[in-house]
Amino acid sequence: MNPFKKFNLWFSLAKKKHPFDHTAFALGTANKNQPHIRIVLLKLILDDGFVFFTNLNSNKGKHISLNNNLSMCFYWESIKKQIRIVGKGSELDRSNSDKYFASRPRGSQIGAWASEQSSKIPSQKFLKDRVDYYENKFKGFDVPRPDHWSGIKIKPTEFEFWQHGDYRLHEREVYFLKKKIWEKKILSP
Ligand SMILES: Cc1cc2nc3c(=O)[nH]c(=O)nc-3n(C[C@H](O)[C@H](O)[C@H](O)COP(=O)(O)O)c2cc1C
Repeated sequence: MNPFKKFNLWFSLAKKKHPFDHTAFALGTANKNQPHIRIVLLKLILDDGFVFFTNLNSNKGKHISLNNNLSMCFYWESIKKQIRIVGKGSELDRSNSDKYFASRPRGSQIGAWASEQSSKIPSQKFLKDRVDYYENKFKGFDVPRPDHWSGIKIKPTEFEFWQHGDYRLHEREVYFLKKKIWEKKILSP
C-alpha cells in the first residue's frame, strides 16, 4: 500500500476514535547541536506532503532555515497507533498560505501579528498591548497574512507505522523511497 494511503486510513480512524485533537503531532527540528521537539497541528494533507503553520522567525523557523531535515510523530492512544515520518521541510507556496490564513478566526490573525513567537517579552501585558495595537491598525480591513507567518510543507522520505501488539509484539512497517518507489520493510518491535 502507498504510505500516504495508509496514513490517510489511520488518520481518519484517529479522527473518529481519538478523544483529543487527532491532528496534533510532535515536530522534531535540529539546529547544529541539538534536537528540539514541540507539538504543532497538521492543517493540510497534500498529495506529496504534510503542512503545519507557524511563525518563520520562531526557534523552529530558524532551525528549519538552517536544516530542513524534519521529523513528525503522531500517537493516538485510543487506537494504539503511532506514525513517524521523516522528510524535508520547505515553505508552502504563498497562495495556499494566504488561503489558510484567510480562513482563520480574526483573533488568531491578529495574534499572528502580535506574537513574535519564541522571542522574550517583558510581560503578558506587553502582548495584550500589541494585540490592541494591531486590532486598531486593521480596524475595518481584512487582516493580511504577515510575511513571517506561513505553512511549512514536509515532504516525506520515510514513514513508520507502529501498531500496538500484546506482550510487546508490536507491528512496525517502514516505507522508504528507493529510486522514487516506496519500498516496505518490517522491523522487529
Ligand atoms: C496542542 C498544541 C498545538 C500547537 N499548535 C501549534 C501550531 O500549529 N503551530 C505553532 O507554531 N505552534 C503550535 N503550538 C505551540 C508550539 O508547541 C510551540 O510552543 C511554539 O510553536 C514555539 O516553538 P519553538 O520555540 O520551538 O519555535 C501548539 C502547542 C500545543 C500544545
